Amino acid sequence: MRSHYCGELRASDVDQQITLCGWVHRRRDHGGVIFLDLRDREGIVQVVFDPDREECFALADSCRNEFVVKVKGLVRARPAGTDNPEMPTGAVEVLGQEFEILNKSETPPFQLDEHQSVGEDVRLKYRYVDLRRPEMAAKLKLRSKVSTFIRNFLDQNGFLDIETPILTRATPEGARDYLVPSRTHEGHFFALPQSPQLFKQLLMVSGMDRYYQIAKCFRDEDLRADRQPEFTQIDIETSFMDEAQIMAITEKMVVELFKSQINVDLGAFPSMPYSEAMETYGSDKPDLRIPLQLVTVSDLMKDVDFKVFAGPANDLNGRVAGLKVPNGASLTRKQIDIYTKFVGIYGARGLAYIKVNNAVDLEEGLQSPIVKFLPLEVRAALLDRLDAKDGDLIFFGADSEKIVNEALGALRCKLGEDLNLMTCEWAPLWVVDFPMFEATSDGGITAIHHPFTAPSCTPEELQASPLTGLSRAYDMVLNGTELGGGSIRIHQQDMQTKVFELLNIAPEEQQEKFGFLLDALKYGCPPHGGLAFGLDRLVMLMTGSNSIREVIAFPKTQSAACVMTQAPGIVATKQLRELNIKLREKVTAE
Ligand code: AMO
Ligand code: AMP
Repeated sequence: MRSHYCGELRASDVDQQITLCGWVHRRRDHGGVIFLDLRDREGIVQVVFDPDREECFALADSCRNEFVVKVKGLVRARPAGTDNPEMPTGAVEVLGQEFEILNKSETPPFQLDEHQSVGEDVRLKYRYVDLRRPEMAAKLKLRSKVSTFIRNFLDQNGFLDIETPILTRATPEGARDYLVPSRTHEGHFFALPQSPQLFKQLLMVSGMDRYYQIAKCFRDEDLRADRQPEFTQIDIETSFMDEAQIMAITEKMVVELFKSQINVDLGAFPSMPYSEAMETYGSDKPDLRIPLQLVTVSDLMKDVDFKVFAGPANDLNGRVAGLKVPNGASLTRKQIDIYTKFVGIYGARGLAYIKVNNAVDLEEGLQSPIVKFLPLEVRAALLDRLDAKDGDLIFFGADSEKIVNEALGALRCKLGEDLNLMTCEWAPLWVVDFPMFEATSDGGITAIHHPFTAPSCTPEELQASPLTGLSRAYDMVLNGTELGGGSIRIHQQDMQTKVFELLNIAPEEQQEKFGFLLDALKYGCPPHGGLAFGLDRLVMLMTGSNSIREVIAFPKTQSAACVMTQAPGIVATKQLRELNIKLREKVTAE
């Protein structure tokens, strides 16, 4: 129907006869001349209707926002002084000569340029209207370009695009499963994949050598700005490559992606051991744009007369750390109270601080509710270790290592944003040398990545010291977001069995859940490894969005529902009966 997209018209199109199709973005009546801003996926152009074409003029005049129309007309330069440099099409306008209303629209639930005044729920309920906004269209267009780039890159590097099942068994990635009842196998359930992990490993056993898939993954977990119950991975696996080679090729892919799509030079990615990331940034996904660092001071606090500090300082699992804010002494009491509340979210029971008014006067120059508990030599050692100068402020966290890291790690990022401390726009890195396992609150251990990750030590060493053994895992982090993670996998059965054993998975359970994997490892499994990127997170960062919901066409809400389709929904009793499912009374009654 159309010859051009509205948003594509430029000065070079002047004098062309064209046909446009699109939505009425705005209608303005300028004393006898009607202006319609016509919008399509590519942008907006101004169409002018003169009263001398009566029929056309009357139709244009009758249009309201979001009517779908077709216009034939002549592209002409805008009269001098009326061009709009803000609009890509702002040098031209279209003189409307023929006009057709293809469909009317009721007044939309919100005006496109007033989307901020309605809640996100309204935007999601009428997502098809929300996606008409040029910013949203631009995000989905970039997303499409990103997947196309990735497909081309991986194809050119010999990766095969292979689909894996959606109806499958549980794959342990640490979240709850979405289950699908089987009609044909009474009382049995499929699990939707949390990732294609085991299938991609089996494809390596099959000799496929290099696999990729842009794969939907499903995880029933607590949602946040960068987590959705269904999301998309760029999932990659290769045989006969070590971690350095896998990291090199995927880093090259991301660097070329940013350069080609948004003209950003990410440079070479530094690598940081997990232990350093936790010690210095309190996080395994440090935002290196922010210069603030955590500094351990436990050793200085062992003998102080302040239990809040001395307790964790003498506890093997405790930590006392300082976070220096250069020039932070100007923070007000009110601001400090807000930050104290903020760290409370992470379990911190307080946020001690010292304002360094005069660093050489250790008696009077330090302003703080806790300094009275610290002997002069501790004060001196503190200032020295944190390299604190006049005008600085030091925050303290004292608790279990986990709480201190989470609280001060998050505070570091919040201060970075609030106080505008970013030193650069993009800060990528690899985090490496993750431990294999971490302790759980019930005294057990759990895999930090997943149980198929290869350790960098022997099975015997791992058994001797499960919590200190390192793995061959790596995460790619950008601006404090974990973009992707992967590892070299276990390819020998004895090691896989050992890891299951350490995770307290009994032999029968190993057979029941992972028998097919253990079998496959017996039949010629090559050394292999891979990684998966979160496509939604990648596009979120590339478009400067603050949530992955902004780059997913039809996302779920924070409570994992779709307000547009009203999913999840109630199903008919007949359907449940076919599945041999009976709901408990309480649930049926609701
Ligand atoms: P992992 O669980 O680290 O690894 O996931 C890989 C990447 O997927 C993205 N991601 C998510 N994005 C949006 N919403 C979610 N709920 C969500 N969960 C994860 C992140 C993350 O870095 N099978 C392994 C990969 C491997 O070892 O090859 C895996 O799934 O960007
Ligand atoms: P209190 O003795 O509880 O009044 O606390 C004195 C100061 O120490 C206050 O500034 C508290 O915010 C701070 N504080 C209390 N508990 C902790 C903690 N676990 N970590 C850091 N600071 C704390």
